[in-house]
Amino acid sequence: MSATNIHTEFHRFLGREDKERLLAQRGVVLWLYGLSGSGKSTIANIAERALHGEGRFTAILDGDNLRSGLNNNLGFSDGDRTENIRRNGEVAKLFAEQGVITFVSLITPRRDLRALARETIGEDFVEIFVKANYGTCAARDPKGLYAKAEAGEIRQFTGKDSGFEEPGEEAELILDTDEHSAEECAHLLLAHLASRA
Ligand code: ADX
Repeated sequence: MSATNIHTEFHRFLGREDKERLLAQRGVVLWLYGLSGSGKSTIANIAERALHGEGRFTAILDGDNLRSGLNNNLGFSDGDRTENIRRNGEVAKLFAEQGVITFVSLITPRRDLRALARETIGEDFVEIFVKANYGTCAARDPKGLYAKAEAGEIRQFTGKDSGFEEPGEEAELILDTDEHSAEECAHLLLAHLASRA
């Protein structure tokens, strides 16, 4: 159900430019997606610390963390994943509008979900595919989830019994963690960010 009797008045509030001037930076959403264990959060963490060290104001919106709060009523059905991305897209947009360099770390397994995030966020959206084979992620298994999925203890597991669609041309950057270390990928990400400015 859509809300009624809503009267938005964005124009009355302090503008984005004022906040960006204060921070001396532009807000952006670096949307990292890929399989669980592909390295999204690790790369975001390294890149965020580097930016922080340079005096940049940053935030990370991480799927597991957000699912422990804002999204704790959502599971992993197609519909719940769509709602997860819709909410996180709206939150990321709010962050970018405050001038924050915002990392998003979410599996975002379908192209329509990435399109939804892009549509919500607009030109601040940077689509970054963190690429790793299912076998690599299963071997890393940092949370023990691949073993559980193999044992049939987790349903709708991404890459196993729930799909993951790789991107075509639409990914602005591909970070292949089969080929490169997390540090190298973070470096590539930061170089890409600098090239956009
Ligand atoms: S998304 O598909 O909706 O984008 P999201 O990134 O928020 O997923 O959450 C993924 C995280 O939830 C994984 O990193 C993993 O720790 C945990 N998780 C628990 N169950 C599943 C599942 N069935 N499939 C994928 N990830 C799961």
